[in-house]
Amino acid sequence: MEMIIRMAVFLPLVLSAQLTVAANAPTHANNGMVVSANTLASDIGAEVLRDGGSAMDATVATAFALAVTHPSAGNLGGGGFLIYRSSEGESVAYDFREVAPLASDPEMWLVDGKYSFEKHHMSYQSVGVPGTVRGLHLGWLDQGKLPWKRLVKPAIRLARDGIPVTHGLARSLKRHLPRMEKYPATMAQFSNKGEPLVAGDLLRQSDLARTLQRIANKGPDGFYKGKTAELIVQEMERNGGLITLADLAAYKAKKRVPTSGTYRGYEIISMPPPSSGGTALVEMLNILEGYDLTESGFGTTVTLHRMVEAMRRAFHDRARFMGDPDFNAAMPLAKLTSKEYAEELRSSIDPGTASVSNPESFSLPKEGPSTTHFSVVDKDQNAASLTYTLEWSYGSGIVVTGAGFLLNNEMGDFNAGPGLTDSQGLIGTPANLAEPGKRMLSSMTPTIVAKDGELFMVTGTPGGRTIINTVLQTVVNVIDHGMGAQAAVDAGRVHHQWLPDMMRYEEPGFSKDSLKGLAAMGHKMKTGSYPQGSAEVIVVNGDQGGLDGGVDRRVPDGGVSGY
Ligand code: DON
Repeated sequence: MEMIIRMAVFLPLVLSAQLTVAANAPTHANNGMVVSANTLASDIGAEVLRDGGSAMDATVATAFALAVTHPSAGNLGGGGFLIYRSSEGESVAYDFREVAPLASDPEMWLVDGKYSFEKHHMSYQSVGVPGTVRGLHLGWLDQGKLPWKRLVKPAIRLARDGIPVTHGLARSLKRHLPRMEKYPATMAQFSNKGEPLVAGDLLRQSDLARTLQRIANKGPDGFYKGKTAELIVQEMERNGGLITLADLAAYKAKKRVPTSGTYRGYEIISMPPPSSGGTALVEMLNILEGYDLTESGFGTTVTLHRMVEAMRRAFHDRARFMGDPDFNAAMPLAKLTSKEYAEELRSSIDPGTASVSNPESFSLPKEGPSTTHFSVVDKDQNAASLTYTLEWSYGSGIVVTGAGFLLNNEMGDFNAGPGLTDSQGLIGTPANLAEPGKRMLSSMTPTIVAKDGELFMVTGTPGGRTIINTVLQTVVNVIDHGMGAQAAVDAGRVHHQWLPDMMRYEEPGFSKDSLKGLAAMGHKMKTGSYPQGSAEVIVVNGDQGGLDGGVDRRVPDGGVSGY
């Protein structure tokens, strides 16, 4: 049973305060920096850096802390991706995406022959085998300097002693708890006897603290084997879920070669499949490289037209080709990221008229609303860019009874079923159908930018399919529009994903004249999507030295911490 003690928000309870840089203060640090969606987690990462930890050490500590302080997306029961670039310029992609349990099959979302949204996204079968703990450990084995236990310990303390519920967390829980009412362990952990927590409550998560302690003591075996694994499997068996001890024991995180490209002399390092993010990002940047965006200017009709047309084309290719590379040998990745292909695509863009997205025979599946990203740089300029997720906010909404962490509903990122393509947005193409051990297609785009062999920028964001376009815009804002880290994050964002044929834009963010110009070219547009993502960015400050942080103020609780 979890304990909630009502008290005033009292931050020093957790950490020495001198590291924290409030989101509205200048966000510069001379040595290391962490920018995340939660100030306490950023502080924990920055303290690891100050204690001599590497960017990977800080990443591990921040990720475990977010699993306590940012439960909508920070996680043990989900999965994600991490791009790491060493100060020597070597880059590696860590893939700890969830996989489909061994009992999965492509038709598993059909009930009596009909597609069931509920089963696909909101059931025990929607839970993929979690990857986060294995992935963080793999990264630490490669690049960690401090002991593993040291990195898990701050999260244990936060879970055991409690965190003050912020206004942001209280609002988020109030919104999402109704969906989770049917799960007693979830309500016990995240409500006050069924009533939403309010700002100032102390949220203690003692089961989670014990799970974290097992992970601290035994590494991944504290999660994938023994007590935690048994608790997961018991939860599954009681409720018709598919994950077995064999699934957990078989889970492997993978090291992959990052997707790479160049943009105006900058090196782009991003996530390869099973994310579509890096490939689509490089494809869009290659198209945009043929235009002078500095001259056309931020947010003008001309610039927005070029960007939206690049987005339309990259998302078309995403829908046509992408899936788990271990199951789709024939993805034309080299072509999609080539300059020649970009030139061909660019030549199909009419400078004065919007293209039309032709639905052909298929559309895109829906993606849910919560993930989190953070960026880390250490004193040697090793850098980490990590995006991880439970898929929806709070994932499946299922807390593993006795283990205190939420399970993902990532299986919802698989296609609906063979041939189930329809005009309402279902998609049934083979590349991304559920199969045993397969990773579901993602849009997460953790990205690092380098220039002349030196680190330049670390970026990433949540936001489902909008992730790829938000990352694109942070990069273009810095490189083409000369913005600093914070301005690049603050600037308005647009999104186009081929289908529906609609540009979404943040409001406020763009002038009426720019939007009128786009409408005159035939672009269909709507707003109401504010906020688009929550980008957490670090830019190396070439003039003054040191690091500039950009924290996304569209969402509450984010923070830059550095020293
Ligand atoms: O992997 C993906 O692309 C999605 N499951 C991510 C979902 C997401 O970003 C929702 N975020 N706000």
